[in-house]
Amino acid sequence: MKTIPVNLGVKFCGVKFSNPFILSAAPPTDDLDMLKRGLEMGWAGAVLKTTSVEATPVELVYPMISGLSFENKKVVGLGNIDLISEHHIDLIEKRVKALKKEFGRERVIAASIMGAKQEDWQGLVKRLKAAGVDVIECSFSCPQGSMGEVSGAMLAQSVPATEMVTRWVKDAARKTPVVIKITPMVADIVAVAKAVKKGGADAICASNTIPSLMGIDIENFIPNPNVAGKTTYSGLSGPAIKPITLKVISELSKTVGLPITGTGGAVNWIDALEFILCGATTVQFCTAVMHYGYDIIEDLCEGLAFYMEEKGISRVKDLIGKSLPYIVGHDDLSRKNRVTSNIDLKKCVRCGLCYYACQDGGHQAIELGEDRKPEVDEEKCFGCGLCLSACPIDGCIELKESEKPRKIATA
Ligand SMILES: Cc1cc2nc3c(=O)[nH]c(=O)nc-3n(C[C@H](O)[C@H](O)[C@H](O)COP(=O)(O)O)c2cc1C
Repeated sequence: MKTIPVNLGVKFCGVKFSNPFILSAAPPTDDLDMLKRGLEMGWAGAVLKTTSVEATPVELVYPMISGLSFENKKVVGLGNIDLISEHHIDLIEKRVKALKKEFGRERVIAASIMGAKQEDWQGLVKRLKAAGVDVIECSFSCPQGSMGEVSGAMLAQSVPATEMVTRWVKDAARKTPVVIKITPMVADIVAVAKAVKKGGADAICASNTIPSLMGIDIENFIPNPNVAGKTTYSGLSGPAIKPITLKVISELSKTVGLPITGTGGAVNWIDALEFILCGATTVQFCTAVMHYGYDIIEDLCEGLAFYMEEKGISRVKDLIGKSLPYIVGHDDLSRKNRVTSNIDLKKCVRCGLCYYACQDGGHQAIELGEDRKPEVDEEKCFGCGLCLSACPIDGCIELKESEKPRKIATA
């Protein structure tokens, strides 16, 4: 096969990244030695965990993390009741300077900020600019709340507050790119993102964790994480939230027209590529790094480069938003599509899961024959896709085009 030279570099808000993979604002970016280690391993940049002015009280509680498991698989999601960094701007300024000195233009140093009033936001921006930061990210979406119109609510849950604070920040940042990190926990995320654009920001970070209750210890009735007998709502991250993030990124790419850095559920290069295909230029990682370590960056770069070589695509730029034309409103989907289930009996392990799913959640089109062999009645099958979602063997069940009309139930 003929291979082509691949360049993983991207430009985001006018800043060059050596690859699209960034460490998001979180514990992996809240310690100078850890940051250096991550950046040395090949991450294109890091967003330093959200900082604040010295007068802001930040008191953390422990334990602050609880995992979501499903059928023996750990960290399907990760809940946290962390707050912003305990380290205030005086320390973050020093870290930014140290990192810029060590890495120069080789790595992008972004810092995340959160303030309670105009002078905080603008003061933080000015100090970070003076320290040499490349990009300023604003957390408008801490699940534990921030300065919104309603006390305890997230800033990005208010359209007017989002526009106003974005303008404050951009006025102070001037040429330094400003990225606003919003929340998917709103009725109309497009309205919020448009307020970000109107306020003058350079890009959107989409999106953030999803407020959640992580589960309950049924012996003592106390939900997780148990902090001396009480809990509070967590921010859910990791694989469980990836579909929500994909929806948000694609929706905003189609409607708002600002560059996007994606965050929320990316664990491997395929997830990251999906974010890019939906319109993200860069992809941020947190849970995957907290679970598997910084060195996943090697697989991310290798996986994406290999894919691009195989596809004959030399620039990441050519992948951005490539899936968007295929996402339409429900009314625009073909009503003529007629497919039915096709089971490869050589791959089938006779587990019967397709049968149970079809009988009790589908159209009763699959029966179990001799030796639990599944048999599809093509006329009864509507091609809903449930059986292939339930089947544990990849490629065992596929949907194929069918000429036979559907047999509609009469009773
Ligand atoms: C323990 C923890 C702390 C976090 N702290 C911050 C923070 O200070 N500021 C922020 O903007 N996001 C914070 N986040 C959110 C992450 O940056 C990221 O957006 C989110 O976890 C979703 O991405 P993921 O699925 O790759 O983890 C935190 C996440 C975790 C798990």
